[in-house]
Amino acid sequence: MRITMVGTGYVGLVSGTCFSEFGHEVICVDKDQGKIDRLNAGEIPIFEPGLDVLVAKNTKAGRLSFQTDLVSAVEKADAVFIGVGTPSRRGDGQADLTYVFQAAKEIGQAIKDYTVVVNKSTVPVGTGRKVAEILAETCTSDLFDVVSNPEFLREGAAIEDFMRPDRVVVGAETDKSKKVMEAIYRPLSLIQTPILFTSLESSELTKYAGNAFLATKITFINEIADLCEKVGADVHSVAKGIGLDGRIGGKFLHAGPGFGGSCFPKDTRALYQSSLEFEAPIKLVETVINVNESRKIRMADRVITACGGSIDGKKIAVLGLTFKPNTDDMRESPSLDIIPTLCKAGANIHAYDPEGMEEAKSLLSDITFCKDAYEPLEGADAVVIITEWNEFRALDLDRVKSSMKSPIMVDLRNIYEPREMKDLGFEYTCVGRQA
Ligand code: UGA
Repeated sequence: MRITMVGTGYVGLVSGTCFSEFGHEVICVDKDQGKIDRLNAGEIPIFEPGLDVLVAKNTKAGRLSFQTDLVSAVEKADAVFIGVGTPSRRGDGQADLTYVFQAAKEIGQAIKDYTVVVNKSTVPVGTGRKVAEILAETCTSDLFDVVSNPEFLREGAAIEDFMRPDRVVVGAETDKSKKVMEAIYRPLSLIQTPILFTSLESSELTKYAGNAFLATKITFINEIADLCEKVGADVHSVAKGIGLDGRIGGKFLHAGPGFGGSCFPKDTRALYQSSLEFEAPIKLVETVINVNESRKIRMADRVITACGGSIDGKKIAVLGLTFKPNTDDMRESPSLDIIPTLCKAGANIHAYDPEGMEEAKSLLSDITFCKDAYEPLEGADAVVIITEWNEFRALDLDRVKSSMKSPIMVDLRNIYEPREMKDLGFEYTCVGRQA
């Protein structure tokens, strides 16, 4: 199959590359000439483990290329995927569809033969129909079908998620477009991946419902963690105990500082806004959004309490800035709420993150960025772990303790064991467990 991917952001670049790994001929298009030049030179604009190897391999094999010219890329394609950004709109939090509609317009002007136009961007229910209307302004209806094919990959595990997904959801309503989508995903159906065909609306809503459900699961266990602290229970045991029930499942039950990233916060807001627009308000999602927002800010209080009620003039070491490990993405990271609150309370923040510091420099002012995990600890009054990078899981704790002024650790990801930390002489605070 000949595939054109419009947009080389996270979803576009990973999906386009993985499609070429399936054996399809893929052209990735982006308006940003600098980005295309860098991709053609083998540079990967995002941090995603394994992506560089796949891009190099498939570019070399002639199956993957990058260009700015959308017209020639669309003319050659059996399917054109829209993989552009849908950021939160200011004000109401609904997804901003400017880039999706602009891409649809340009695709419509370039289509010559029958082409399947596939929406891979995360878009509110009803967008597929609007894309079809835009295409119909410049194309006759026999020249295209619109399909919805949401993406479920996680940053940091994107290649594995794309190559071995739990399922593929395809909102396609004609036999012709279904056949094209079946051919594109044949490598996955050969390994028994369920390919679920639905209507456009069901597919679009599945994406939001999935993310909102996972965000709810996290928020639920976070609130259970708060209760665990009060009643003397251990959230790990409770999460395991409920997760072993097959109806609940053990995944996404890690208590922490609240969810962040480019998807859960944005998609829960957009789903709630859609539910208001269609007069079926999802109160549960509204609560999840509010609980999570206030949780992120409240995490700073744990640090202040651990330091005896004041951090004014104190040096606080921060380990981890990104919203989760194995990414350089800082979007809606808990660190962006916690650190400014600590600064406001008078703390001097010294921070380290393995991949996120470049991006963090433009988002966080008045903090000192350090070269490794040990540098911020020197003379620190306390250390707070915000992101569970692997390299923080195996710190030399004797060295940590001896380099700090006072051995106070606030572990917002529960990567250490309370008993061991106590035995080592740390004043250790974590989430949902007795310190
Ligand atoms: C999420 C979904 O997991 C993907 O399936 C989806 O495709 C993607 O959004 C998207 O819509 O594009 P991602 O944002 O990359 O993926 O990251 P997750 O691994 O889901 O983590 C999101 C946030 O939840 C992070 O801040 C993480 O620390 C937090 N989290 C996750 C917890 O606090 N506890 C958990 O048990 C799991």
